[in-house]
Amino acid sequence: MKKLVVLSGAGMSAESGVSTFRGAGGLWDKYPVEQVATPEGYAADPGLVINFYNERRRQLLKVEPNRGHELIAELEKEFDVTVVTQNIDNLHERAGSSKIIHLHGELTKVCSSFSPYDPRYIRELDPEEYEIKLGNLAPDGSQYRPYIVWFGEAVPKIEEAIRSVEQADIFLIIGTSMNVYPAAGLLNYVSSRTPVYLIDPNEVSVNSNGHKIHVIRKVASEGMEELTTLLTAK
Ligand code: OAD
Repeated sequence: MKKLVVLSGAGMSAESGVSTFRGAGGLWDKYPVEQVATPEGYAADPGLVINFYNERRRQLLKVEPNRGHELIAELEKEFDVTVVTQNIDNLHERAGSSKIIHLHGELTKVCSSFSPYDPRYIRELDPEEYEIKLGNLAPDGSQYRPYIVWFGEAVPKIEEAIRSVEQADIFLIIGTSMNVYPAAGLLNYVSSRTPVYLIDPNEVSVNSNGHKIHVIRKVASEGMEELTTLLTAK
C-alpha cells in the first residue's frame, strides 16, 4: 500500500464550524495569542487560559466531522494514511482516521503544569469533565493545564511526524496557512519524487523547496472529492 501523509490545519475543520486562527474573524483577532497560547500568558492568568480552552471544548461537543475529514478516513481503504494535524480538535478521530499525530496537542486531554509532556500525568477527559477549574490538580500536585503546545514551547511530536513524512509516497497539505513552524517545515522532508497536493480556497504561500505543488483551490470537502477522484482513478 502506498503511504499517504496528510498535513492538516484549521481550515480542515472550518466547514464543521470551528474557527480558523488567522484572517478576518479568526480566533487570534478575538483573543490575543500571547494571552491564551503562550506559557507566559498561562503564568500571568491561568484562569483565563483554562476558560479559553473550556470554551473550545464546549464547541467540540457541538461540531461534527465534515465530508473532508470523512474522505481522508475513507482513503485508508486504498492507502496507508497518516494524518499529521496542527488541529487540537478530535474531528479526524471521529471521522475514522486511525493514525493521527497531533503536533499541537489535544483539547480532550489535560496534563501537569509542572511537566506537561510527562505521560504519567496526561489524562483524556470524558465530556462531563470538559470544564476544568482552577484547583483541579494533577497527581503531582500541579494545576491540570490544557494539553496544548503553546507558542515558544517545544513540539515533541515533530520527530515522529518527520519520520512519517520522509516515507510519504504522496503528500497532502490541507487547510493550513503554513505560517507556523516546525509544522510548515515538514515539506522539506518530503522526497523530491513524491507528488505534493495542496487544498485551500485561498492562496497559500509555501516555500516549495523545489517541489512542484498540485494546487486544488477549493474548500476541504470539495477539494477532497477532487483529490479522491484523482488518486483512485487508476
Ligand atoms: P490558519 O488559521 O493560519 O490557516 C487556516 C487556513 O485554512 C488558511 O490558509 C485558509 O485559507 C484555509 N481555509 C479556510 N477555510 C477553509 C476551508 N473551508 N477548507 C480548507 N481550507 C480553508 O490555521 P493553521 O495554519 O492551522 O497553533 O494555523 C497553524 C497553527 O497556528 C495552529 O495550530 C495554532 C495557530 O496559532 C497553536 O495554537 C499552537
